Amino acid sequence: MECRGQTERRKIEHIVIAVKENVEAPSKTTLLDDVELVHMPLTSISLEEVELETSFLGKRVKAPIFVSGMTGGTPLAAEINRAIGEAVEELGLAMGVGSQRAALEDPSLSYTFRVAREAAPTAPIVANIGASQLVSGLSERDVEKLVEMIDADAIALHLNPLQEAVQPEGEADYRGLVDRIRWLVEVSPVPVIVKETGAGFSREAAELLADTGIKAIDVGGAGGTSFSIIESIRAERMGFDDKAVTARVYGDWGVPTAASILEVRNALPGIFVIATGGLRSGLDAAKAIRLGADMAGYALPVIRAAYSGGAGAVKRLLRRFIEELRIALFLTGSRDLASFRSAPIVVYGRLKEWIESRGLKI
Ligand SMILES: Cc1cc2nc3c(=O)[nH]c(=O)nc-3n(C[C@H](O)[C@H](O)[C@H](O)COP(=O)(O)O)c2cc1C
Repeated sequence: MECRGQTERRKIEHIVIAVKENVEAPSKTTLLDDVELVHMPLTSISLEEVELETSFLGKRVKAPIFVSGMTGGTPLAAEINRAIGEAVEELGLAMGVGSQRAALEDPSLSYTFRVAREAAPTAPIVANIGASQLVSGLSERDVEKLVEMIDADAIALHLNPLQEAVQPEGEADYRGLVDRIRWLVEVSPVPVIVKETGAGFSREAAELLADTGIKAIDVGGAGGTSFSIIESIRAERMGFDDKAVTARVYGDWGVPTAASILEVRNALPGIFVIATGGLRSGLDAAKAIRLGADMAGYALPVIRAAYSGGAGAVKRLLRRFIEELRIALFLTGSRDLASFRSAPIVVYGRLKEWIESRGLKI
């Protein structure tokens, strides 16, 4: 078990490395580039009337756009969570906080998560804890604390086996995980979301969750932020040269986001799917939604905006994503998300090969 100071230092390192270094998968892409939405020049709607509003966790949101859980546990993280909270509240969107493990270890850090709820009193906010904590003895009281801390609308359980495997202080032991997920669903006062963190979900993983009672899967696909690269940079700085090389070997590991959406959708047609991992525009969000996602999530671009320009910069960025998504619906002649889901698309290249090789349907 780590002590509090170590958890806190690691959190700061993750933020600073993510913001300042090149931490995206070196060669892998999301494969969203292999998706084309077919242009519809003879549209009979106006850009203005395109309706993006939808519901998420029982609340209305102005667009299917989510800021993925990233941080908490340090004063810097508190500022970031506050900035994101302020932005999502004003724009009518939803957000998650990062792993709340630090606040379970030291309750005086709870405020670094609670600031999100204070800044966003009406937005859907998702709590967060890791699979390693779940399998190593998270209690029912702990789960209640995580939810109460931010008056959460759901709790996300993050899976990060890649990061745990290559991290110098990693805890790569997931024995009994599926049973513990079942337990979590039973004791949690709010719905449970299971999320990856940049290495994606496969059909086989989604199938294992079929009868667990979870509410949603966040695919956390590959092609964006690579925790293997982040850990490689950390290991290098800590003087663990071999670990740094090994982490870099796995820099591109994982199911690309576009493929991961299809994998999950094929396994569980009725589950709520959030697509994160390498989404960098509203057009990326549109493609993810057309492939079967219900929501599009962003992490890295948002933390960079929050770090450099606070709430104002986050608002600007999210407004741009919303506008770009709206344009995609307009240009496919779709008045709302329901009609956009049947807009024609073309899939080629590696994504097409992935679909054929895995026997998936769009
Ligand atoms: C600095 C940073 C910290 C993160 N911390 C967490 C975390 O505590 N819990 C979690 O579930 N995901 C965490 N993530 C993963 C994101 O939620 C997301 O799944 C991943 O970064 C892929 O999205 P992106 O390519 O848009 O960054 C973190 C991401 C970043 C960039």
